[in-house]
Amino acid sequence: MTTSAISAARVADLIGPAAGDGPAYQLIADRLRLLIADGRITVGTRLPSERDLTGALAVSRTTVSSAYAVLRERGYLTSRRGSGSVVSLPVGAVRRDTGLHLSPQVPEGTIDLTCAAQRAPAGMTRAAEAAIAASPGYLSGSGYLLNGVPELREVIARRYTERGLATTADEVLVTTGAVVGMAIAVRALLSPGETVVLETPTYPNVFPTLDQLRARIAAVPVAPDGWDVTTMAATIRTSGARAAILLPDFHNPTGSLMSDEQRAVVARALAREGITAIVDETVNEISLDHEGPLPLPFGAHHADTVSVGSASKSHWGGLRIGWVRASGPTLERLAAARVPLDIGAPVIDQLVLLQLMGATAGITDERRRDLISSRDALATALRHRLPQFTFVLPSGGLSLWVELPEPMATEVTLAAEEEGLLIASGPRFAAAGGLDRWIRLPYVLSPEELVEAVARLERAWVRVAAGSPVTRRGRTEHSLGPLVA
Ligand SMILES: Cc1ncc(COP(=O)(O)O)c(C=O)c1O
Repeated sequence: MTTSAISAARVADLIGPAAGDGPAYQLIADRLRLLIADGRITVGTRLPSERDLTGALAVSRTTVSSAYAVLRERGYLTSRRGSGSVVSLPVGAVRRDTGLHLSPQVPEGTIDLTCAAQRAPAGMTRAAEAAIAASPGYLSGSGYLLNGVPELREVIARRYTERGLATTADEVLVTTGAVVGMAIAVRALLSPGETVVLETPTYPNVFPTLDQLRARIAAVPVAPDGWDVTTMAATIRTSGARAAILLPDFHNPTGSLMSDEQRAVVARALAREGITAIVDETVNEISLDHEGPLPLPFGAHHADTVSVGSASKSHWGGLRIGWVRASGPTLERLAAARVPLDIGAPVIDQLVLLQLMGATAGITDERRRDLISSRDALATALRHRLPQFTFVLPSGGLSLWVELPEPMATEVTLAAEEEGLLIASGPRFAAAGGLDRWIRLPYVLSPEELVEAVARLERAWVRVAAGSPVTRRGRTEHSLGPLVA
């Protein structure tokens, strides 16, 4: 793992005033632990030297040494000769800097709601068997298909055409999932140091690609009830951006759906500035009870759009199949940009998806019914047990974006882990810092499991709100949320 450094001034800023109840070293250790656990200081980061942090925090050297000692003892810091104190995570801890688990092992009895994805659909085994039986011809070829299995590209193109965006197979590139699709699009379209319009909150796995390119971010907020497109158009106008990354289809994490009228306003603003839209449509098939026709794909409003899709939500994440849709010349650039990442998606998995999409391009009615029951059970349990938490019930997507009465999401997330519930807190989705008032609760488990999850969340909330030890000790007016840059 590469080691990056963080300045003493920045760490001091994130920690906030080191005053409160209890010893200062404990307070500093607690704050650092929260920042590490939440991913705002990522694993592998070299913390400033004790001497530098002592100066930046205006505390004694012993205070900082003791804080580092506590973190070392608890597994959050590793001291390496020559490279100082490097952030780590205790063995067996969930790693939150990517929002994904370091190991697939979640402790027995723990409810894992960090991932807004469902188990494989019924019929998976049959589809896998049929896939090879139906297309044995592929086995005698090399298996290297840079742009994807032609029949699958056809089916994906047809789905775009059905949704209102005329598409041919040669405008489709099959990828290993949408995260790779987004990385390909961003790398192909953005030069280092350029600006990108980015929603906040947004789906966070695009952050590392943007970081690598040292992209500047022009953030546009997405509220629980969606986009303020007037403000968004103004930001777009002054951004000087090269591209805009948008999730208008059951936006993850808010679940919001951008209407056609809103899409038209945003598209006009982008067209005026010559900005390419990179649209992550991963969740677009998860329409649960949206009334009336779904909006047109963003690309039908703005020709200069690269659409990124995936089978992960409509069918199964384990297939690792996604795609990118773009006009001919752009698609060629994208195909070239994929080469450093991969040179084609797995053929067998593409054939399995071909079978599944042949049965239904979106989710089955049974899945839709299950998701609605789970969503409603989660919403009812929250209203009953945690009425001070608020949310807008989405008509699609896979999660509730829940607002807490105070910016304590990080602490609630840590306390929830101690209660046997893993969730993702708002800062994880923040493109421009903050969002410590939010948590994301996916409704991807059974109603019974979700009711139990809310019981655990309530216990966590009660502890945090009562100022229980460790996480609450020493809180000041400067809560962690607003201090995040
Ligand atoms: C908006 C969005 N993009 C991308 C992904 C990941 O997609 P994939 O599994 O196809 O890489 C997800 C999954 O949660 C998502 O919600």
